[in-house]
Amino acid sequence: MMNAQAMPNVDEQTLLDIKGLKIWYRTTRGNAQAVDGVDLIIKRNEIFGLAGESGCGKTTLARGILGLTKLPGYIEAGEAIYYRQVSGSSTVGQDLLTLPPHEMRQMRWRNIAYVPQGAMNVLSPTLRIEKQILDAIYEHSDMSKEQARARMLECMEMVGLEPTVARMYPHELSGGMKQRVTIAAAISLKPGLIIADEPTTALDVNVQQVILQELKDIAASLGVTLIYVTHDMAVHAEMADRMGIMYSGLMVEVAPVIETFKEPLHPYTQGLIASIPAIGGDRSRMVGIPGNAPSPLAWPTGCRFHPRCPKAMEICRETVPPMLEVASGHYVACHLYPTPISGATPASGATPAPEELN
Ligand SMILES: Nc1ncnc2c1ncn2[C@@H]1O[C@H](COP(=O)(O)OP(=O)(O)OP(=O)(O)O)[C@@H](O)[C@H]1O
Ligand SMILES: [Mg+2]
Repeated sequence: MMNAQAMPNVDEQTLLDIKGLKIWYRTTRGNAQAVDGVDLIIKRNEIFGLAGESGCGKTTLARGILGLTKLPGYIEAGEAIYYRQVSGSSTVGQDLLTLPPHEMRQMRWRNIAYVPQGAMNVLSPTLRIEKQILDAIYEHSDMSKEQARARMLECMEMVGLEPTVARMYPHELSGGMKQRVTIAAAISLKPGLIIADEPTTALDVNVQQVILQELKDIAASLGVTLIYVTHDMAVHAEMADRMGIMYSGLMVEVAPVIETFKEPLHPYTQGLIASIPAIGGDRSRMVGIPGNAPSPLAWPTGCRFHPRCPKAMEICRETVPPMLEVASGHYVACHLYPTPISGATPASGATPAPEELN
């Protein structure tokens, strides 16, 4: 787990420091422990890819960081410290999870913008595109009408939208164009962090390619950090600098993207990579991993992946593997790798004790 001990470099490069984050949902059958002890550091100006099968907790985590957790969901434990640059080079850290709602509303858009899952459908069908973008700019900044309009057109251009699109209604746009509108809105206030949740999943593969490249270019040119959420490993291979693999509410492997693909360590990561379909193949079926993801109402004991793991050992059934740095910058929570690299400190207290899991 990437707490301050496992990763002592909480330094000026740290943008977001997520510690022991648990986000659960109350249900009639008990608590769904959707995010269940995530420790993660996001660095300034990186593209961080968050991966994992459907239901592993990606959206819950993303929305949690944004202060958008709504009942029946709630923050059970943890912190998400966002380091904002203030005057000169000094930074202040604020826990996004305890900010008063009005301050969090200010942070959203200005500092952290969100491109939600299914963003194409969040546009209001009865309002022109310009109204939807301008209202957001007015609400979260002090820009004049002229400034806001100029900024809107600038952002639309960045995502390849003609100015005439501003006067249109969502139904007049293709899926790709609608998605571009949501990205234009997200970058309109020059946030430090954009969290994009499956922004291209619903789109045609060719459109997806173009938008991915645009997003990457925008992140680089604006100096913005991007957390990119998708279960599509092929997209991560193209987009990410570093990757985090989630399984059953936990981060199981965090590494630079090249290492993730060249030397995946966790059997789950290996399965995800093995299941990437060939280009033009059926992208919807996951073939590399047998069995189904477990229910967040009753996680398996020990390593949560053990019932599906081809390499499961006795210890995996009983003991939660801690997240260890097994090569420089490469973290994995798996009993196959019991020894951290020399100098790295094993995470302590970040992994839930086995008795906590039941
Ligand atoms: N309102 C809710 N009430 C109860 N359980 C919920 C609720 N919302 C989400 N969950 C559960 O939390 C878990 C994580 O869901 P989440 O949407 O975060 O997953 P995800 O990784 O984003 O999946 P996908 O790839 O399908 O978008 C799932 O098991 C889901 O059923
Ligand atoms: Mg999701």
